Amino acid sequence: MFRVWTALILGCLLVVAATGVSAQRRGGDPKAAAVKNPVPSTPASIKAGLTAYNMNCRHCHGLRGKGDGPLAPKNPPPADLTDAMWDHGSSDGEIFAIIMNGAPAPMTEMKGMKGTLQDRDVWNIVNYIRSVGPKPAATK
Ligand code: HEC
Repeated sequence: MFRVWTALILGCLLVVAATGVSAQRRGGDPKAAAVKNPVPSTPASIKAGLTAYNMNCRHCHGLRGKGDGPLAPKNPPPADLTDAMWDHGSSDGEIFAIIMNGAPAPMTEMKGMKGTLQDRDVWNIVNYIRSVGPKPAATK
């Protein structure tokens, strides 16, 4: 009887630990996801985003956002911003939060832009990334 309970409790702990990790890794952040992009994705916004991207991101994320910039760190490497894989959430709000706060992975070299870039610059960058990457999944 005792063994059964131990196994059950261990099993529960494992499930909790696993969901915790995947929520942090992939699920993104529901609070950030709820934040709406206040800057319409106009050609002017995308162009401003490209300029800010070239100055702040290109050396790591690469000329076309593929994660192959000349100063790209190795472990973990910069994310490919043009693929459909979003490790930290795919909504505009989550991408904004990653850029502002930095990537949450341990040892990551992507530092947050808070204090360096204005909110508006970062939304422009989000619009630029959207223009080169896949469209967000249709909202439910
Ligand atoms: C020092 C190099 C470096 C710079 C500069 C940098 N990044 Fe990153 N970025 C990374 C790395 C490394 C990761 C992957 C981290 C991880 O997986 O936790 C990453 C991850 C990301 C992600 C998450 C992608 C996903 O799949 O969830 C986004 C979005 C992003 N970067 C955008 C930007 C933008 C926009 C800028 C410029 C404002 C920028 N980064 C500047 C290295 C950098």
